[in-house]
Amino acid sequence: MKVIKDIKAFQQIADYYRAAGKKIGFVPTMGYLHEGHVSLILAAKDECDIVVVSIFVNPTQFLPGEDLNEYPRDFLRDFHICKNAGVDYIFNPEKEDMYPEGYSTYVSVNEISDRLEGKYRPGHFLGVTTIVMKFFNIVKPHYAYFGQKDGQQAVIIKRMVNDLNFDVNIRICKTMRDENGLAMSSRNLYLNEIEKKQASVLNRALNEAKRLIMEAGINDTKIVRDEIRKYIESEAPLSQIQYISITDNSTLRKVKDLENFKGEILISLAVYFRKTRLIDNVIFEK
Ligand code: PAJ
Repeated sequence: MKVIKDIKAFQQIADYYRAAGKKIGFVPTMGYLHEGHVSLILAAKDECDIVVVSIFVNPTQFLPGEDLNEYPRDFLRDFHICKNAGVDYIFNPEKEDMYPEGYSTYVSVNEISDRLEGKYRPGHFLGVTTIVMKFFNIVKPHYAYFGQKDGQQAVIIKRMVNDLNFDVNIRICKTMRDENGLAMSSRNLYLNEIEKKQASVLNRALNEAKRLIMEAGINDTKIVRDEIRKYIESEAPLSQIQYISITDNSTLRKVKDLENFKGEILISLAVYFRKTRLIDNVIFEK
């Protein structure tokens, strides 16, 4: 496994493998890797000849006051996880090289970036789409792997690639969870044991919401949202719910009338435990 920091050098490596007819699989990450990231790496290994993982805590997707400086970083730990998972290249650039002085170009996916997470983290997805597009131009992957854990991010990346006719196949992989159902996240490190235990209610609440719609036949989204809000508040007294949203997964618009809805439903939420903000979602076909 090789670690590359230089942008031009990586582009040459990508050109070499492309010319040799090798399929490049790419997993963008911000490091502090866990089994969720590893599941993306294994999916890439399954489908591609060369697997590239980027490790870069992207400053442009953090808002002022968010956890950019506290975001966990441990390169040596990530190195070993990648090596054991069979990664071929880690791309680990410096922020001064990714965003040199005078940097002024951003990729904006309008409307869907302003909904859900975008409402509470304005500008976040502008940072995400910009860095992902930059990575695509450096790593030149045939396939790129993202997690359903960040459901809106997945929808926005697919939209961007489609809209810009970018020649890469996007794969969305299922959310990996710990034994209690808590979605794995680098930010879980901020939680103490009691909070972690309480946070496992989020997955149960999302599954309950799905059950209310698909099995109990409740068609009023307000009733579903109120029910799971009560459920979370009673099981996780340390939590503070920021939003619970029931949307059409293709447009990320709110679904009001479930009775006549056909398509993929995304139920997503953001919940705070002290300063730690957790997100999770469930997705299903109606
Ligand atoms: P990061 O949070 O490190 O996540 C990297 C990838 O891992 C994302 O596609 C994310 O959805 C996926 N992932 C995270 N937790 C997961 C889980 N429990 N199960 C499955 N997949 C999971 O998302 C980012 O970084 C950044 O926004 C990035 C795309 C790298 C751009 O900076």
